[in-house]
Amino acid sequence: MKSAVALSRAHTPRLPTRNADVSPLHRVDEAAHLGQYIPLHYHGQLLADDRRMSAFEEAIDKLVPEGAHVVELGAGTGVLSFFAAKRARKVTCVERLPNVAAAARRLLSANGVAHVVSVVEANADNFLPDEPVDVLICELLHAGLLREKQAEVIAGFKERHLAHFGVPVKQIIPEATILAAQPVFQPYDFHGYHAPVARFTEAGMIPCDTIEMGPPEVYVVADYRNDIPRSISVDGWVDADKDGVVNALRFITKNVVGIFPSEGRSADWHMQYMMLPLPNPVHVKAGDRVRVRFQYDTGGSIESLMSSLFAETMR
Ligand SMILES: C[S@@+](CC[C@H](N)C(=O)[O-])C[C@H]1O[C@@H](n2cnc3c(N)ncnc32)[C@H](O)[C@@H]1O
Repeated sequence: MKSAVALSRAHTPRLPTRNADVSPLHRVDEAAHLGQYIPLHYHGQLLADDRRMSAFEEAIDKLVPEGAHVVELGAGTGVLSFFAAKRARKVTCVERLPNVAAAARRLLSANGVAHVVSVVEANADNFLPDEPVDVLICELLHAGLLREKQAEVIAGFKERHLAHFGVPVKQIIPEATILAAQPVFQPYDFHGYHAPVARFTEAGMIPCDTIEMGPPEVYVVADYRNDIPRSISVDGWVDADKDGVVNALRFITKNVVGIFPSEGRSADWHMQYMMLPLPNPVHVKAGDRVRVRFQYDTGGSIESLMSSLFAETMR
């Protein structure tokens, strides 16, 4: 995929956002209104997502060395710690919600790995383990790296680990997240009711009413072992390959969960596509470029990204 959408993190001035589009609730009570804390009833969905589970299981099997110390930040039901416990000497599993931490403790015990995994009820934002870590596992992921604190939590943990133990974390699972944007046309008509609102669809399954107006373009590669982007500011373009209207951008999120150089492949997990309507639909002809601008902070709200979206045809 060519990287036509220009990304500039540090030097691009912040683009104006339409503040009226961002609910004050998203500003005053982030933790409650963003998606950081996943209630227990939602964890069944995570456990049943076979593509997610298979990618993590394979990556953990192949990348956790025998006898390692593993830390998992954001334990949920503890399933990723369970995978790690098959090889690790010790797994420290951190969950902030008391009832979810209690469920993880119960389930890990019922699955026979309580002697390897300890569940710590704590905030991953400032957690530091009692000994250096060989592998960090962290799945605080949401489409576009929005709503959950993957970038912040991993970046903070790496910093604290290096400062306290004098060594970097050797292995992080997932290894990277690749973000791309694609121009699409979406009717947004629901039984005669026109409602251009954010929509999520299964990755790889094109809903029959969506028209792909051009190829996706990568705008961020977040490599968790290196500098992790915290503020994303894009001013670039996507190409149209047919005549019509571009009225939405599809945000594609591919997590490279584990890289296996000896096999020349990786275990990947594509999250649900997130489709956001443009405030100003643009008419295009095949071969046109559409200039797109948007910005958001990783872990921020979908509303904040939507309020910054802008597109115009470049001829
Ligand atoms: C997306 S779920 C993933 C759960 C589990 N790792 C899995 O893969 O099934 C993220 C979990 O992290 C927890 N969490 C979110 N922010 C956290 C924080 N700052 N500290 C500790 N746990 C957190 C949530 O409550 C939730 O249980």
